[in-house]
Amino acid sequence: LANSVSIPGKLAPMATTAILTAAGSGTRLGAKLPKALVLINGVPIVRVAAENLFASGVVDDVIVTVPPGFMDQFTAALDGIEQPLTFIEGGERRQDSIANALRLLLPQCNKVLVHDAARPFAPPELIAAVANAVTAQVKAVIPGLPVVDTIVQTTSEPAPPDRAVAWLGELPAGTSPAGTVPKTDIAVLARTLDRAALRAVQTPQGFDRETLVSAYQNAMETGLTATDDAGLVAALGVPVTIIPGSPVALKITTPTDLAVARLER
Ligand code: C5P
Repeated sequence: LANSVSIPGKLAPMATTAILTAAGSGTRLGAKLPKALVLINGVPIVRVAAENLFASGVVDDVIVTVPPGFMDQFTAALDGIEQPLTFIEGGERRQDSIANALRLLLPQCNKVLVHDAARPFAPPELIAAVANAVTAQVKAVIPGLPVVDTIVQTTSEPAPPDRAVAWLGELPAGTSPAGTVPKTDIAVLARTLDRAALRAVQTPQGFDRETLVSAYQNAMETGLTATDDAGLVAALGVPVTIIPGSPVALKITTPTDLAVARLER
């Protein structure tokens, strides 16, 4: 495939491949570099994630999705890792990046983990638990955490200006001046969801290879978009098993997340 770089190594007859998604821009992080190249205690985020994948002992090879134009920086960031690594240019959406990576799966691969570089600290134990939970019968496994906040659904209508103004008027003096709160950040509650039935879903997500490939084929044919891979697999009618996630596997999205991640190390 064009634009891919492969570092060969030995693979088991039945192999688990991890697709490490790292082709995002990191716009919300406010960094000049792609998020996966940002350093945490001197180590690029993508390297921490790749090392934890291999440390799990269940991953035979890793395919990294790379932001277009950053191939050299990513191969340098993962330099010296002994296990098999392949780099492929990502696409416009996360889903497009993963579709590119799926075309590089080796014949012996029978399980696929999809993991976001944005969750570099997902512990090796969690990675192994997800991979080991995928069996001939259980074709899709994801980690999920109970939700601590009450989650509400909002109406699709924007909040009426009078309500928004009333709310802003109650802000303590010196906080956000009314003019700086984007209108889209103000919403109206439609209904409160049953928190006990909700989970905050993390990565890595583990799949039987054929199931994941079929889910992507189906998504391509039907134009389906999902924010994670389990969403695409569920659309096929395949049951998705949720195992306990880890609070350490937090997703680095904003500068605050990055500061927390740097503190934790
Ligand atoms: O943007 P967000 O943080 O939700 O992205 C989740 C993960 O998907 C990140 O690790 C990001 O690098 C990756 N991604 C990708 N290709 C894209 C967009 C995001 O590999 N086009």
